[in-house]
Amino acid sequence: MEVMRVLRMNKGDDENSYAKNSKVQSKMISLGKRINEEAIMQMLCTNIPDIMGIADLGCSSGPNSLSLISEIIDMIYAKCRDLGRPTPELKVFLNDLPCNDFNSIFGSLPAFYDELRKEKGSEFGPCFVSATPGSFYGRLFPSRSLHCVHSSSSLHWLSQVPPGLESSARRRTTTMNKGKIYISKSSSHGVLEAYSLQFQTDFSSFLKSRSKEIAAGGCMLLSLMGRRSPDPTTDDSCYHWELLAQALMSMVSEHVNPTSCLS
Ligand SMILES: C[S@@+](CC[C@H](N)C(=O)[O-])C[C@H]1O[C@@H](n2cnc3c(N)ncnc32)[C@H](O)[C@@H]1O
Repeated sequence: MEVMRVLRMNKGDDENSYAKNSKVQSKMISLGKRINEEAIMQMLCTNIPDIMGIADLGCSSGPNSLSLISEIIDMIYAKCRDLGRPTPELKVFLNDLPCNDFNSIFGSLPAFYDELRKEKGSEFGPCFVSATPGSFYGRLFPSRSLHCVHSSSSLHWLSQVPPGLESSARRRTTTMNKGKIYISKSSSHGVLEAYSLQFQTDFSSFLKSRSKEIAAGGCMLLSLMGRRSPDPTTDDSCYHWELLAQALMSMVSEHVNPTSCLS
């Protein structure tokens, strides 16, 4: 199964949608606000280009996508006003995997542009928001075209199930991490190594691609959920994965295809 082709957050805005179930991720964005602000202000002290590229990688859909962009725009606006200089033209790229619900983001763009015009007035430089579907583990943008790259709660998504851990009903392989979808207390050392190697491979690809796309003096703001203990198998690291694994296992035992519940 190609993970990046099938997995996505629930679309729309009904009670099961990501839009209505992303409070934890929203909290993470607000916790990072002060650090983001410092990084952006530092970048703007050295150089404010006439045209600025901003990308949110793994934007998903729902209020978090555009609220984060609004915050970054507010920071740029405040800095330019302090300096008494015009704001740059902004090119905002919202990236996620191709099956993401970009349509619902597009639906909220008119209100987003209206709000910008109302709050910032006509002297605010134009802002163009567009979608960039594709994997952030490869190239997404032209060389040196981005000045600010943001990604929150997304880089823990691996590009694939680590080799050796995937199961194949057809080939009747025994899986190394039977019945689990994460590093649990019952997982062998090999499972831990397989996950960490996959993360290293993916994260290196991510950094390699961004190193070409970010302009000199640009900044990158990444936030990820952490854990207090270096041990990845403690209850507070695993509790939610255990619940998810149990739900998936019982769906499989009832012959329900878990990916059919994503649409
Ligand atoms: C938990 S959501 C976070 C969304 C948003 N950043 C937030 O804070 O609410 C993670 C998002 O990352 C996206 N994602 C996962 N792997 C990706 C990849 N390789 N390239 C682009 N997006 C990816 C998923 O599709 C999903 O929408």
